[in-house]
Amino acid sequence: MKKIFSIAIDGPAGAGKSTVARAAAGALGAMYLDTGAMYRTVGLYFLRENLLEDREEIARRADGLNVSVQFEGGVQRMLLGGEDVTEAIRTPEASMAASAVGAVPEVRAYLVRLQQETARGISIVMDGRDIGTKVLPDATLKIYLTATAEVRALRRYAELREKGERPPFHEVLDDIVERDYNDMHRAASPLTRAADARLLDTSNLTLKESVDEVVRLAREVIGG
Ligand code: DC
Repeated sequence: MKKIFSIAIDGPAGAGKSTVARAAAGALGAMYLDTGAMYRTVGLYFLRENLLEDREEIARRADGLNVSVQFEGGVQRMLLGGEDVTEAIRTPEASMAASAVGAVPEVRAYLVRLQQETARGISIVMDGRDIGTKVLPDATLKIYLTATAEVRALRRYAELREKGERPPFHEVLDDIVERDYNDMHRAASPLTRAADARLLDTSNLTLKESVDEVVRLAREVIGG
């Protein structure tokens, strides 16, 4: 029987974690879980309720949230109270909301539990900010994926242009810098590199080179 493994990929916004993690999971025959999408879903809920400024109410409601993950042909879909919000969470407002609710410990406790339940008994690649440090502390392989803020902003800028949006570049960069600051300076599970995580700087790597490196590191530890 093939050994079950788990791969934790953490790093700042725009480092290419989800694209790399999804492709690596495909190559390794594992499930891919995008945990940022879960924070975005919770963020969207509080954005709609107009409660983003009210940390106490966010904390109070965290445990009763109705967030679930479904996989349709291996593709992750996010449900909020039964509504499919997979597309609705991909807006700049939802990213900022995700960053805000991710600072609330009760939200993290709720989502970490959901993430650990999803990972149980299967081979999985998970990406986020605290996967190697909190969610899967015993992961088979931990990777800290990063790139300079400028390179990350350029990549996001290109993505937005492709979607027909034309934001000024400095806004995209400011957004990245602000989210880095929030994610690294919050009291609850700030973004840090786990002591045993391998550092992968993708500033000068193509997407394919990044994926190949993750797959190579994974094969090294899981064999095969
Ligand atoms: O990876 P992303 O851009 O979809 O993440 C959205 C926000 O969610 C990001 O600002 C930080 C937060 N997040 C987190 O705190 N912990 C995670 N495991 C994943 C995301």
